[in-house]
Amino acid sequence: MILIAGGTGRLGSVLAASLTGRGLPVRVLTRVPARADNLAALGIDVATGDVRDRASLAAAASGADTVVSAIHGFTGPRGTSPVTIDYQGNVNLIDAARAADAQFVLMSVVGAAADSPMELFRMKHAAEQHLRAGDGDWTIVRATAFLELWIDVLAKTAARSGRPVVCGRGDNPINFVSVIDVAGLVEQAVTDPATRGRILEIGGPDNFSFNQLAAAIQQAAGRPAAPRHVPPMVLRLMARSAGYLRPELGRQARAALVMDRADFSFEATGIRQAYPSVSCTPLSMCLAR
Ligand SMILES: NC(=O)c1ccc[n+]([C@@H]2O[C@H](COP(=O)([O-])OP(=O)(O)OC[C@H]3O[C@@H](n4cnc5c(N)ncnc54)[C@H](OP(=O)(O)O)[C@@H]3O)[C@@H](O)[C@H]2O)c1
Repeated sequence: MILIAGGTGRLGSVLAASLTGRGLPVRVLTRVPARADNLAALGIDVATGDVRDRASLAAAASGADTVVSAIHGFTGPRGTSPVTIDYQGNVNLIDAARAADAQFVLMSVVGAAADSPMELFRMKHAAEQHLRAGDGDWTIVRATAFLELWIDVLAKTAARSGRPVVCGRGDNPINFVSVIDVAGLVEQAVTDPATRGRILEIGGPDNFSFNQLAAAIQQAAGRPAAPRHVPPMVLRLMARSAGYLRPELGRQARAALVMDRADFSFEATGIRQAYPSVSCTPLSMCLAR
């Protein structure tokens, strides 16, 4: 049995459906079972639980030979954060997998490091350390930014005003990867024992800026208008003041400032050569979907 925490999410739901399509038994963990109705219709087992609640994880992991973590706490209500979900929640899940004698596949981020300017990346690194320090088989998959997520974010703001909203200057090169490609590599990690004890990093075929992504979205939708920008000064104010009242907004503003400046480019040739069966989806195909 393969338990997928985060199985209702963008990545996890693609992975769950694909593994089920191969005839493998899959269970997804969710806080809200109704979110898994479409997966239950495919014959996927649904376990109710929360990665902050260790007892619920013991029940969900019972009988599992593989546990996949595709969770994150970057967004969500108060109490949901990179510290509580990406670090502490993953520690709880890793411990539950060890108690069930199951191998573990951890979804992390390219750039995970103890000194990253992004809290999320520091917490992913801390979870990686907990996984690597203990007993049991493991694989870590690190990905760059999900293309489908950012197409959705920009397309939603464009649908409201005709112009996508870009945070900051928007000209920093960033690597974006399709969730379909990442799910393919996680599937490889789940099913291929040769990936045990390895960190696999995946990115998309190209690096491009938010301005270029926004322009491609506008062109695909037949809209001529250029994006609107939230100036860095406004993001800095949001990071400070809004962060007190709504930690999630402050976190998003801080992350936007980092994404506007730091190096988020990635060279994906190596992983693509190592795993040629994993799809390599270009931006044009994601936009067409
Ligand atoms: N998005 C990106 O650009 C990106 C880039 C690199 C790596 N990643 C990583 O890829 C993975 C999947 O990301 P995604 O964008 O597909 O996620 P997503 O669509 O936002 O879904 C998040 C998932 O986390 C689960 N979750 C959150 N809090 C939970 C809790 N307290 N207990 C149990 N489950 C909880 C949610 O389950 P329920 O709501 O059903 O409970 C949901 O299935 C994450 O590990 C993420 O860090 C993402």
